[in-house]
Amino acid sequence: MKGFTIAVDGFSSTGKSTLAKAIAKELGLKYVDSGAMYRTVALFGLQKGFIKSDSEIDVQGIIDSLHSIKIQFVYNVNSGKSEIFLNGKEVENDLRSMEVNAVVSVVSSISQVRKAMVREQQRMGAEGSVVMDGRDIGTVVFPNAELKLYMTADPDIRAERRFSELKLKGVDVSKEEVKENLQKRDKQDQERLDSPLLKAKDAIELDNSNLSEKDQLALVLELYKKRKQQLQLN
Ligand code: DC
Repeated sequence: MKGFTIAVDGFSSTGKSTLAKAIAKELGLKYVDSGAMYRTVALFGLQKGFIKSDSEIDVQGIIDSLHSIKIQFVYNVNSGKSEIFLNGKEVENDLRSMEVNAVVSVVSSISQVRKAMVREQQRMGAEGSVVMDGRDIGTVVFPNAELKLYMTADPDIRAERRFSELKLKGVDVSKEEVKENLQKRDKQDQERLDSPLLKAKDAIELDNSNLSEKDQLALVLELYKKRKQQLQLN
């Protein structure tokens, strides 16, 4: 079968990565979390002192260092999960901190950062079938993806999901802070000049406010089957 690309875009905390991982597992496809790549650049910027806050960023410093940021996704056989490495160090947990949350949208609005990440994402996609989630996968990274999904969910439900996720990780944060951060990121993601969050014309919108993960997966697998038939793939 020719490579089949599934693009999963949408707002933060709409369950994109949960769904994308489940599809990848079910269909035996590679999964790439493109948001984690922007988070890795933000983490690097914080660690190297290029970023002090969302309004104090040495943009040129980040751009000049892009060549020295090596991002790798490595499959861990023991945990059965893909782990992300920044210059040889596993950083999965560091990427989800409130410090990174607070600055990642600004970092992801830097055109040179986007260019470098998109190039890398397209390289990963060129290796074969892939499920990738993000904001611009169906519009910019893979405009010819075979299946495009655009996820939405009620803002209160999204904030509740993110809050529970952070609490489970032991992050000390209030529900209000989480909601504010989500609203701010939505606005930044939609209003940035380069590759803003947009629904691709041919994307299928999926509101999962009241859908269980199982039902959502079943629905998408059905869409995948139909799309394959349409494309006459085996
Ligand atoms: O999906 P996430 O919350 O981990 O994404 C982190 C940030 O990265 C988010 O604020 C928007 C940005 N992002 C992006 O601009 N383009 C992508 N393809 C993925 C994420």
